[in-house]
Amino acid sequence: MSHVTQTYDSSKPDEAYTELARDLGALLSGERDLIANAANTSALIYDALPDLNWAGFYLYKSGELVLGPFQGKPACVRIALGKGVCGTAAARRETVRVEDVDAFPGHIACDSASRSEIVIPLVRDDELLGVLDLDSPSLRRFGAADQHGLERLAAIFVDSLR
Ligand code: SME
Repeated sequence: MSHVTQTYDSSKPDEAYTELARDLGALLSGERDLIANAANTSALIYDALPDLNWAGFYLYKSGELVLGPFQGKPACVRIALGKGVCGTAAARRETVRVEDVDAFPGHIACDSASRSEIVIPLVRDDELLGVLDLDSPSLRRFGAADQHGLERLAAIFVDSLR
């Protein structure tokens, strides 16, 4: 399989995420395996978006979040619902955008380089599957356009599992 990653142009985030969404759809097409698709999704995002130090998944298993496929430094394995940025997004089933992790009460520091973070919950037919988590070494790395674009990518990932 050949794959060319688009270079992300931060001056045109909507166009960049549209290209990334197209790439992700092609990459996951014809495959439904959860681990394979989570692994390729994290690799594509980490490779395509600048200024990240971690991108990956926590999967919901037996009432808690358990580390899934990711790119970046080794991370904490289990996160309770409601704890940290990931557990908060999972419990609320809403995207949580943190401009400064030091200002987020209960933030779980897996990589001390992380300064800002965004976590998108993965929900299918009202069932929580897990979360997609991105960390950046820069403050305020993730804006509204990133949230919108990453929610589109998360939806493509969830749809691929059907
Ligand atoms: N910072 C996250 C923990 C996961 S790592 O960022 C990979 C949190 O507070 O939930």
